[in-house]
Amino acid sequence: YDRQDQRLPKQRLLVVANRLPVSAVRQGKDSWQLEISVGGLVSALLGLKEFDARWIGWAGVNVPDETGQEALTKALAEKKCIPVFLDEDTVHQYYNGYCNNIIWPLFHYLGLPQEDRLSTTRSFQSQFDAYKKANQMFANVVHENYEEGDVVWCHDYHLMFLPKCLKEKNSNIKVGWFLHTPFPSSEIHRMLPSRRDLLESVLAADLVGFHTYDYARHFVSACTRILGLEGTPEGVENQGKLTRVAAFPIGIDSDRFIRALELPQVQDHIKELKERFAGRKVMLGVDRLDMIKGIPQKILAFEEFLEENPEWRDKVVLLQIAVPTRTDVPEYQKLSSQVHEIVGRINGRFGTLTAVPIHHLDRSLDFHALCALYAVTDVALITSLRDGMNLVSYEFVACQASKKGVLILSEFAGAAQSLGAGALLVNPWNIAEVAASISQALNMPADEREKMHQHNFMHVTTHTSQEWAATFVSELNDTIIEAQLRTRQVPLLPV
Ligand code: G6P
Repeated sequence: YDRQDQRLPKQRLLVVANRLPVSAVRQGKDSWQLEISVGGLVSALLGLKEFDARWIGWAGVNVPDETGQEALTKALAEKKCIPVFLDEDTVHQYYNGYCNNIIWPLFHYLGLPQEDRLSTTRSFQSQFDAYKKANQMFANVVHENYEEGDVVWCHDYHLMFLPKCLKEKNSNIKVGWFLHTPFPSSEIHRMLPSRRDLLESVLAADLVGFHTYDYARHFVSACTRILGLEGTPEGVENQGKLTRVAAFPIGIDSDRFIRALELPQVQDHIKELKERFAGRKVMLGVDRLDMIKGIPQKILAFEEFLEENPEWRDKVVLLQIAVPTRTDVPEYQKLSSQVHEIVGRINGRFGTLTAVPIHHLDRSLDFHALCALYAVTDVALITSLRDGMNLVSYEFVACQASKKGVLILSEFAGAAQSLGAGALLVNPWNIAEVAASISQALNMPADEREKMHQHNFMHVTTHTSQEWAATFVSELNDTIIEAQLRTRQVPLLPV
């Protein structure tokens, strides 16, 4: 069976993620304006030419009325997207609550919310109930749209309960699940009151994938220690059923960034930025405004660098793009004020009447502006306290063919395992070490920079998002065929 063969029908792929890659804004009673956001996953799927992919997810807006839901469903169908409608209370308890206030910080080693301590059990339970309910709603939409032979690929920590909901109703569905965050050590995972349910549900999938081998190993050891199951070199064995567990490091669509740099508007932008920052080295941070990104630690390290290297004070600028995210969760609101306060203090301390050391932007940049910024950067500073992969590091490298700038990268980002040899690796909690790395990066000789850049550029352009998605889906197909052979559901080849 050759899927590249144009005469054969393409295999259908149902991608299920919390968010659709489309933002919807209501224009009138039954009209919607849609804007596609091309993130890593979208470009990965666009590259999967041999599959007919459609996307199932939450539209990110509350649409209580049926007319609005019908109109939005119709508009999204043109983009091969199928919406899951979640009411406000479910979004609050499932998305803001269980996903982003409980699993997200825990999986990034930031513990469980402290202020809930007295009412922990009750609030965990009601948020977990909402999580299960929301996952069941996603499952219902998958079932409504499922056709025999489809492959279902579930994504991320929002949908850990989904594999079980899918298999319970139809054990023949091919299900893969991929986690975009770290999977923590089993000693961290065991803190979750719902630790067993989540593991058991994920194990209902046929193939479970992580960014790194370490995350996969942590998952298998959580299954052995918490569920008492057996780990094998292939995955986890549960009552005769094998769930395959493996590492599939994601990448980016590097060509898209490289091509963008040739565009006249990007070239103009690069020229403007060069003039604007002439005579100063440019350091860059691009992050969602999230606790896991270590933004306060990064800025404090920059302050320490300025303090210890007065000769650099008017020769370097840090541009920090902090894209607001999950703004209804109190922890994120607190972080925003904390970052503003530190930036204000440092700019007051080291700024002059004409220049400030830190430019902090509370918003996202459009794709072309971002490419231009990456291209003029001398040093990229990524200080995640934990990060599943961190694709900003990949995007920076893709745009650095002429500048060959330095990447300072947290050892706690998944990307440290692929780009570590071409970066200055740091422990973001060690402010003095990060400050020293800034100095080393700014003073690095050109031949050393070039060597590190070449290593990274080679990796980023050969380990792309398209290749990642194709590998995962083909492994999922193979896993299922192997399982059928094991249980003899597929006739063996005739002798
Ligand atoms: C992380 C998660 C994604 C999520 C993204 C943005 O990268 O792994 O699943 O979509 O953050 O977060 P948001 O809550 O805005 O969807």
